[in-house]
Amino acid sequence: MEKTRILVTGGTGYIGSHTVVELQQAGYEVVIIDNLSNSNIDVLDGIEAITGMRPAFVEGDVTNIETLKSLFDTYPGIKGIINFAASKAVGESIEKPSLYYRNNLVSLLNLLDLMGPNGVEGIVFSSSCTVYGEPDRNPVTEETPIKTATSPYGNTKQISEEIITDMIRSGAPFKSVILRYFNPVGAHPSALIGELPNGVPQNLVPYLTQTAIGIRKELSVFGNDYDTPDGSCIRDFINVVDLAKAHVIAVNRMLDGKSEQPVEIFNLGTGDGVSVLQLIESFERSTGVKVPYRIAPRRPGDIVKVWADPTRANKVLGWKTEISLDDTMRSAWNWQLKLRERGIM
Ligand code: WQD
Repeated sequence: MEKTRILVTGGTGYIGSHTVVELQQAGYEVVIIDNLSNSNIDVLDGIEAITGMRPAFVEGDVTNIETLKSLFDTYPGIKGIINFAASKAVGESIEKPSLYYRNNLVSLLNLLDLMGPNGVEGIVFSSSCTVYGEPDRNPVTEETPIKTATSPYGNTKQISEEIITDMIRSGAPFKSVILRYFNPVGAHPSALIGELPNGVPQNLVPYLTQTAIGIRKELSVFGNDYDTPDGSCIRDFINVVDLAKAHVIAVNRMLDGKSEQPVEIFNLGTGDGVSVLQLIESFERSTGVKVPYRIAPRRPGDIVKVWADPTRANKVLGWKTEISLDDTMRSAWNWQLKLRERGIM
């Protein structure tokens, strides 16, 4: 039987590559488009090493509609899209708002405009808990009020959700599942793919593992004087493989006609709030490796506490996280060790 073809934009990126693996292992045929601005083409080797299947790859920019049109001609019959391709650094978005609005919104608009003419039935959109800002209370449900975005990055996620909803409300012939991620962390258990940020990592876990292996001198914990049990910020750290599996379920749901509404929104998190200091403890406990760190000043713009109530995803998608934080920290460490072994860093 012919495999259903799925387009994954940003598919050589961190979450994208883990999702491509799960899609292939679920029986889908995957086409990736990526401009490699924040990822490396070697990721295709990692995916193939894990699944035995090399995804089709188009190096290109989703903001270029001609590139997309030729992709749909080259790969006809695409039934679903998962849209990861976007710029995603909060701090950078404040320095370069125009780049973020252009990249994140024009790419989405191009995809949405081409879905109808090419018979694409659904799009899974990669959104973020950033849309909730600093929630008035936790855990956060999908009904928690959206707050005014505190960065252009967060605003592009809010606007993207509205664009999708408005186009479908105006009769666009496709469905959408919007997935609001909390904090994706960890790496594939094979250590053949993982998070590989360019330059100095902005996010906690890659900075932590680079410190543990000696690339960075010490980890700065941005503040321990917050109104939390140990004074450090609280997040919902979700294993990237658990997150990837939710995307396969979302694609199945859209294409099997199971979606109850043309647009469905789900929080993807563990439901457990974990502090920065607790995460460091988890890493040290599970790997036996000490992480030199110091308490540093607060980072402007940081949310103090945000974690998910994943009940709707648990019940409606039949999905929940399965991998523990300790196992997730071990996977991040094994990935960092593999990068060293391969001479990459
Ligand atoms: C987590 C916690 C920091 C680095 C952002 C985006 C979100 C998503 C994930 C894209 C905070 C603390 C961090 C460090 C630290 N991005 N920290 N020392 O800010 O929760 O979320 O990245 O999809 O949309 O908003 O993630 O990993 O940067 O920070 O103490 O060197 O770790 O203060 O409390 P964040 P993060």
